[in-house]
Amino acid sequence: MVRLRRMTSALAKIAEFPANPVDMFKQILQAAAKGHPDGLLVDMNLATLDEEFGVLNRTVIYRGLTEDNFPFYITHRYTRNFKNLQANPKAGICFYMTNVQDNEGKDLVTWQVRLIGAKAVELPDCEMDALWAKEELVSQIRGHICPCGEPIDYDVLKAKHDKFLEDHLASGKDLERPKSYTAFKFVPQRWDFLKVGRGEIADRVQYRLQDNGKWEAMHVST
Ligand SMILES: Cc1cc2nc3c(=O)[nH]c(=O)nc-3n(C[C@H](O)[C@H](O)[C@H](O)COP(=O)(O)O)c2cc1C
Repeated sequence: MVRLRRMTSALAKIAEFPANPVDMFKQILQAAAKGHPDGLLVDMNLATLDEEFGVLNRTVIYRGLTEDNFPFYITHRYTRNFKNLQANPKAGICFYMTNVQDNEGKDLVTWQVRLIGAKAVELPDCEMDALWAKEELVSQIRGHICPCGEPIDYDVLKAKHDKFLEDHLASGKDLERPKSYTAFKFVPQRWDFLKVGRGEIADRVQYRLQDNGKWEAMHVST
């Protein structure tokens, strides 16, 4: 596709932003969910410190906010992301959402939301049963049969999967939560919100946590 070179330019503006970054985040999620009546799957990119590679990132699913208002995701203790966060809880998170309604639905914009200087905190085991019960069967089975990151033979894994599924369906019981199943929330020092539309220079609003525990919000240059 050939894209015509546009000879216009404009500045994006984040016109209003609430005092609390989590409220800002909720507003963006709400706008992003419009046009997705069955619910919007939100991914986040998670970067961790890794002993072998220095830094390692991957996509994980954003599962919502904890009661104390921190974003969390679910993982297994055998993954590298778990091992990385256990060894060093420093993390970077990046959400990327396109075609988000803006300006009362008149425009479509892109949002990038970053959690900067985030500290990962594992959620207590007592919260895991409720999360496990909500998992789709496919995720539950993955948790039981997949040796994350290990080389595998497709046919061997498929046979294991099919047998596991058959036994499970025949049992008529719920699948047990594996010990490896866990979740982390992220406690950031900064929330960074970038908004941009086509033909615009992005605007950013950054919330910086102060020593007194309050958030200071400001526009920052892109
Ligand atoms: C759309 C998408 C969603 C994913 N969600 C998760 C997730 O919520 N938790 C998780 O541990 N891995 C998730 N993964 C898999 C990770 O990206 C990654 O491959 C896996 O966790 C192993 O990565 P690691 O060795 O860097 O830890 C997801 C992958 C994709 C493409």
